[in-house]
Amino acid sequence: QPPGWTTWADVVVVGSGIAGLTAALRLRSTLDERLGPQPAGARGPRVLVVTKDVLDAGSTRWAQGGIAAALGPGDTPAQHEADTLVAGAGGCDPEAVRALVEEGPEAVRELIALGTVFDQGDDGELALTREGGHHRDRIAHAGGDATGAEISRALIAAVRAAPEIEVVEHALALDLMLDGPPGEGAVAGVTLHVMGEGQRDGVGAVRCRAVVLASGGLGQVFAQTTNPGVATGDGVALALRAGARLRDLEFVQFHPTMLHLGADASGQQPLVSEAVRGEGAVLLDHDGSRVMEGVHPQADLAPRDVVAKAITRRMRAGGHDHVWLDGRHLGAERWQRRFPTILRVAREHGIDPVVDLLPVAPACHYASGGVAVDLAGRTDVLGLYATGEVACTGVHGANRLASNSLLEGLVFSRRIAEVLPAELGGWRTPVADRRPEGLVGGEHRDELQRTMTARAGVLRSATGLAGAAADLADLAGRATRPDRAAAEPGVAAWETTNLLTVATGLVAAALRREETRGSHWREDHPDRDDARWSGHLDLQRDLQLD
Ligand code: SIN
Repeated sequence: QPPGWTTWADVVVVGSGIAGLTAALRLRSTLDERLGPQPAGARGPRVLVVTKDVLDAGSTRWAQGGIAAALGPGDTPAQHEADTLVAGAGGCDPEAVRALVEEGPEAVRELIALGTVFDQGDDGELALTREGGHHRDRIAHAGGDATGAEISRALIAAVRAAPEIEVVEHALALDLMLDGPPGEGAVAGVTLHVMGEGQRDGVGAVRCRAVVLASGGLGQVFAQTTNPGVATGDGVALALRAGARLRDLEFVQFHPTMLHLGADASGQQPLVSEAVRGEGAVLLDHDGSRVMEGVHPQADLAPRDVVAKAITRRMRAGGHDHVWLDGRHLGAERWQRRFPTILRVAREHGIDPVVDLLPVAPACHYASGGVAVDLAGRTDVLGLYATGEVACTGVHGANRLASNSLLEGLVFSRRIAEVLPAELGGWRTPVADRRPEGLVGGEHRDELQRTMTARAGVLRSATGLAGAAADLADLAGRATRPDRAAAEPGVAAWETTNLLTVATGLVAAALRREETRGSHWREDHPDRDDARWSGHLDLQRDLQLD
C-alpha cells in the first residue's frame, strides 16, 4: 500500500518498553552532545517514538519479579556472569554477558535517578530477592510484584517531559524503507500504519536516518503465553524482510508457572513470578510430592528450563495439565506485601493463595533469540539497530536467566545511544519496494497459535516439528490463494502475517537443532550434544538457515 503521508525524524525508535524508552532518552542526550542542538527549521524531531498501542501496552509493564544486577553486599558482576552463563547452557556470547553484568549496576542506579522507586528494606537499602538460577539475592523489585509497571511509569514520565522526543501511539511499523534492495540497502525510513491520529491516520512513511527496533517479543506465536496481545513478532519479521539475519529463534523460553485457568484458556495468561518460589513457595504434584526435590541442587530455584521440564514430565506422568504451587505458608501479610498483583489476580479467578494451592503450568514467556546484533546493537542492515527482546545480543544463550531481560534492554539501549550519533548517515533516498504482499488474514491467528503450541511448544520432536512446518505451509497456501479475496490490509492481517513468518522460521530452526539444550527440548534428541554444538543458527531472508 503506498504511503498516504510522509513525515521526518532523525531517528525512529520502534517500541516503548524499557528498551525503546531508554534508547529514546539516551539518544536525545547523545545526539545533542555529538551533533549540537538541532538547527532551526529542522524537518522533524530528533527522536520519534512509535508504538503499536499506548506507551505502556508492551511486555515491560507486565514484568513482575524484577531486574537483576549485582547490587547487594557480597555480590559481584562475576557471580552474576557465572549464573547467566550456566543458565544459557553453553549458548551465551561471553563478551555480551560481561557487558550486561558489568554495566548493569550503573544502569539500574541511573533508572533510580530517573525516578523509579524500587522496594527498600527497613535499613533503607534496596530490597533484593532471588529467582531461579541465581546464587545470590540480586533481583530489585518495585511495588512487591509490579516492577515493570513502576519502571514503565518512570520512563514514560521522563519521555513525556523530554524536549525533542515526539511520540506517536497506535502506530504499527510495517516495513523499513531502504535505499537499495533488501540485504543491500541502508535505512531511509519506515512505513507505519497509524490508527486514529487525525492527519497521520492510515499508512504513511517516516523518512529517517536510523531506526532503533525495540518492538519486543513474539509470545503470541503460541496459544498460551504470559506476553500481552501486542507481542506478535512484528520487529523480527520486519527486520528479516529488510535483510537482517535472525539468530537463535528456536530458544523460546517457557516460564514454569503460568496460572493455569483451564485447558481452553488462550492468549495472555497470568504469570506467577519466580520470586514467589524465591520467597519459599514450592511445586507439588497431584500426590502432594515435591516436584523439584532430587531433580536439581537448587530445587525449586533451579534455572527456568530445568523447572519447566520437570513440571512437564510430572504432568505427563500423571496425565494432568498442571501441577500446584504451594505458597500458603507465606501467610496473608507477606502475600499482600510482596505479591499484591498475583494475589489480586488469583483471587479474581476464585483462588486464594493464602489458603489454596495455585494451579500452574509452563507457558511461552520470552524469546531468547531474535534479530542478530553486535555489542552495540547494530544489525546487518546499515542504520538499523535492535535492542531488548526483539534483539539477539547473545546474553541469554539457550535459556535466559530470570530477570535479565529488563537489564538487557537497559544496558544495550545505552550502548546503542553511545555509537549511533557518530554513525548517523544522511537522508537516504528510498527505492521502490517490490516485496510481495501475501497478507494473511487475522482469522488464521488461532489456527497458527494452536499448531505451534501442539507441535513446536515446550516438547519438540522431528515428527511434531515437520508436522508444524507442513501445517504452516498449508495455512500460508490457503490464506494467500489467488482465487481468494486478498486479506484486508490492517493491523490484524499484518500481525498474523508477521506471526506466520516468525513461526515458520522458529520451526525451521527447531527442526535443525537436533539436541536438547536450554529451553529447546527435543524428545527425539534428549541430551545436550556439545560435540555437535554448531553454535548459533542464523536465518536469512528466505527463511533458509546458515
Ligand atoms: C518472573 O517474575 O518470574 C519473571 C521474571 C523474568 O521473566 O525474568
